[in-house]
Amino acid sequence: MGNCPPASSSDKSGRDPVLKDAKVLFIVGGPGSGKGTQCAKIVEKFGFCHLSSGDLLREEVASGSERGAKLKDVMARGELVSMDDVLQLMCDAMKKKISETKCFLIDGYPRELEQGTRFEKEIVPCVGVLYFDVSDETMTSRLLKRGETSGRVDDNEETIKKRLQTFHNQTKPVIDYYSQQDKVCKIPAEGSEKDIFAEVEKYVSSHKW
Ligand code: AP5
Repeated sequence: MGNCPPASSSDKSGRDPVLKDAKVLFIVGGPGSGKGTQCAKIVEKFGFCHLSSGDLLREEVASGSERGAKLKDVMARGELVSMDDVLQLMCDAMKKKISETKCFLIDGYPRELEQGTRFEKEIVPCVGVLYFDVSDETMTSRLLKRGETSGRVDDNEETIKKRLQTFHNQTKPVIDYYSQQDKVCKIPAEGSEKDIFAEVEKYVSSHKW
């Protein structure tokens, strides 16, 4: 993993100067709520840059690094990895893409309140938050189905239960926090991928990028 600049190279706001004008949408929802699926559709239609914290973490695990081995254990337990690790990965990935994108879809982040407040303080405030609202039952059945072939260490019944708990306990306060700032677009996401995307598209199209 590379490094974000130390505080001394930040501008007066304390933010990273390379990323201070970036546009960011946070994409949140429980495990299996369809965040990744809908982000792929946004990329196809609007050409935004999709960065998934889960994918970045799995890439780090796949690299075989010592840090990756520790991350894998945490992910297999359905818990959150350390904020420093995930913020660093996200910041590095954004810098690689900043010159070629109108907007970043930051998928699976923030998962706890401090991830959001730190990101906004150190990188850039978000434009909005897309929240995919799905029942635990639907999320569980989607993930169990995917688990038949995904090979993911966390797509099993026991870890899915833990991931759902983590979502309710740690991520729901993020949604409340940004709702109070009127930044959350809640998308009912039980239906078909196509119907859900119709709602997503309305939201994305209503902004100037
Ligand atoms: P992460 O990889 O982010 O996993 P997750 O959010 O738990 O779940 P997914 O991303 O797999 O679900 P999704 O909402 O993207 O749904 P998808 O579109 O794939 O995180 C994994 C782990 O990494 C975490 O538990 C944690 O340990 C760690 N981590 C990640 N981010 C972190 C952070 N910020 N801080 C700390 N730790 C972090 O769809 C799921 C399935 O459903 C697919 O098979 C899909 O085809 C299907 N599907 C999608 N939409 C529909 C639909 N409308 N109808 C029917 N099926 C559908």
